[in-house]
Amino acid sequence: MKKSTSLFFLAAIFSANSLCAQQKKAVTATDQKMNTFINQLMSKMTLEEKIGQLNLAAVGFDVTGPILSQGVNEKIEKGLMGGVFNTFTPQAVRKLQELAITKSRLKIPLLFGYDVIHGHKTIFPIPLGLSTSWDLDLIEKSARIAAREASADGLNWTFSPMVDIARDPRWGRIAESSGEDPYLGSLIGVAMVKGYQTNSFSNKDAILACVKHFALYGAAEAGRDYNTTDMSLIKMYNEYLPPYKAAVDAGAGSVMASFNDINGTPATGNHWLLTDLLRNQWGFKGFVVSDYTGINELEAHGLGDLQTVSAKALNAGTDMDMVGEGFLTTLKKSLQEKKISQATIDQACRRILEAKYKLGLFADPYKYIDEERAKTEILSQKNRADAKTIAEASMVLLKNNNQLLPLKKNAKIALIGPLANNKRDMIGNWSAAGEWSQAISVMQGLKNVAPDMDITYAKGANLVDDPGILKLINANGADIVADEKSPEKLISEAVSVAKNADVAVVVLGESALMGGEATSRTELDLLPNQKDLLKALAATGKPIILVLMNSHPLTLVWEDANVPAILETWFGGTEAGNAIADVLVGNYNPAGKLTTTFPRNVGQIPLYYNHKSTGRPYDGVSNEKYKSRYIDSSNDPLYPFGYGLSYTSFAISPVQLNKVSMKAGQTIQATVDVQNTGDFDGQEVVQLYIQDIYGSVTRPVKELKGFQKIFLKKGETKHVTFTISTEMLKFYNADLKFAAEPGDFNVFTGSNSRDVSSAKFSLLN
Ligand code: BGC
Repeated sequence: MKKSTSLFFLAAIFSANSLCAQQKKAVTATDQKMNTFINQLMSKMTLEEKIGQLNLAAVGFDVTGPILSQGVNEKIEKGLMGGVFNTFTPQAVRKLQELAITKSRLKIPLLFGYDVIHGHKTIFPIPLGLSTSWDLDLIEKSARIAAREASADGLNWTFSPMVDIARDPRWGRIAESSGEDPYLGSLIGVAMVKGYQTNSFSNKDAILACVKHFALYGAAEAGRDYNTTDMSLIKMYNEYLPPYKAAVDAGAGSVMASFNDINGTPATGNHWLLTDLLRNQWGFKGFVVSDYTGINELEAHGLGDLQTVSAKALNAGTDMDMVGEGFLTTLKKSLQEKKISQATIDQACRRILEAKYKLGLFADPYKYIDEERAKTEILSQKNRADAKTIAEASMVLLKNNNQLLPLKKNAKIALIGPLANNKRDMIGNWSAAGEWSQAISVMQGLKNVAPDMDITYAKGANLVDDPGILKLINANGADIVADEKSPEKLISEAVSVAKNADVAVVVLGESALMGGEATSRTELDLLPNQKDLLKALAATGKPIILVLMNSHPLTLVWEDANVPAILETWFGGTEAGNAIADVLVGNYNPAGKLTTTFPRNVGQIPLYYNHKSTGRPYDGVSNEKYKSRYIDSSNDPLYPFGYGLSYTSFAISPVQLNKVSMKAGQTIQATVDVQNTGDFDGQEVVQLYIQDIYGSVTRPVKELKGFQKIFLKKGETKHVTFTISTEMLKFYNADLKFAAEPGDFNVFTGSNSRDVSSAKFSLLN
């Protein structure tokens, strides 16, 4: 299994482009048909009906069907709704679609959106976990399965992928991201769009993707959700915008505006962002939806009353209003007062009708309701098996002293921790339709995978003791209940269980609800009650395997110093327990690699591998004071980007270049030999980084430009070649021109961003 990913990336962009070119002729004919249809339809629409298409309402449902509150049915009947979200199941969707088709004047079908983020009913690892697989085929497969299940369940639009670059582990939504790297993030964004949309909406199981949150949502100051971002254009273009652009280039049909302020204008009302950049520069042809009440929130941002901000959002390029009804209630008045034009309303309406047309909803409004497929496919054995494979691929072995892992299948283990016998948290945050009762706990997984293992269990600690955190995570009905036993009692039970075992497997971390939206943290240690438990267990002298589940990258200095084996499993989804058990007993050799830097402490944040140098870079060892350093902490992360161990070991030879210079348009081959020097078959992600040593502007110390995930039998050696092209050397300069500059470059290859060998080449004039 060899994947030449840098080539894949170029190929993906190239094939998307050439596909566009090939399809141009065909598209013209289809477009003409669509335009004629929409022109005719729009000629019959009243102003109210046009504005109605721009309105997206949240409609939940219960056993009796959709909750038709706040005049939902009335609005649908009057044509005052373009789409709904949060309603799914064939029955509930059919009920609403029937209202639109049988009761509204022009019978315009509704869009049905939902947050299908990492699976619909079969839940895959949280997106940060998906990214640590560095396996684009598996990631695309997860999106494909999600789309198949969602499309059978009535949905035709997912609010995914989230491609925000996330370099701040305090930010809870880092869990929904692919981490800190623009190159990897772009590849993953493209894979997800392909997985959801396929290559044609004529497929019944292709659903509309929504690239979010445009833009820079992950750069919220201080990692506090919804906070301001202020960023130079050059940083945006080089470091934050590439994944959005890649996903748009891959054909994503919709884009969601982000909540945050960008250099003084919040995204939802930012004409430069939504029109000049997205449409005029990038050529985006789909529609833009606001985030949840994003338009109304422009009032709190300080831009005016609801009428003013609604007009501003529409004029900026927001086509659809999620939940807030600012469009519905004020656009008519704004038109009369000439604050917006009829043409702008028409344009937004047309974009939404086009999406419906492309999805095939005018031809068959019930296309996405498939009771039969819903019954047979949702949570099928096949989907669950794929979910297990994908969860296994997401796990990152952070430490494994003396080969403590894998465990013997007949070992006597103490299984300890609030996440050890827990189903509820396995599916992670943003698993909206996911049913936690379907999930496999670690305890169950071990029993399934190693029936002869002697397991004694103790909870050891509450998942969350902190009353403040509990109150917030229980706010939406999560009802995490603290154990009646005191923390001391829980710990002493766990200690005696550990004393009687050969090894303790301790499953700790965060509650799933401590990740995702509105879950920013200022401390990233294990919660104190869990840390107390771990310390007490370490004091027994029994070997400890720490299995982590968490949304935020954590600060693990104590754990790294005191615990011999650490496995990061994120929240692995429906099959988490089986996958973790397979890894623990060595049925699967872990190969995941971090996509976010794990800092030593919160004070180092933001900390990311692809940073700039300074005028006084610190070498990490000297005792000089006037260097860019801390007096109380190392600059280095605990675990760097790209890091992850295996049960086997790999030796990667120093990188060799086939020539030391090239001209524009030429290529250089960088090669390494990778040898499996350990006792297990395994996979290694060989990584290629490049540094532009001198530039017209300062450039990062290194940037990921390629990787290959390869499988090696024990003892086997493979030759890995990366092709370095001029394209890979391009960046946006001070004039925002995307160009490669002649000069010297460093090439780094290795098993992570820190442990690399290097070579030098020049790009000639
Ligand atoms: C989130 C979006 C999500 C939307 C709809 C918002 O609060 O920011 O990511 O898609 O809600 O549920």
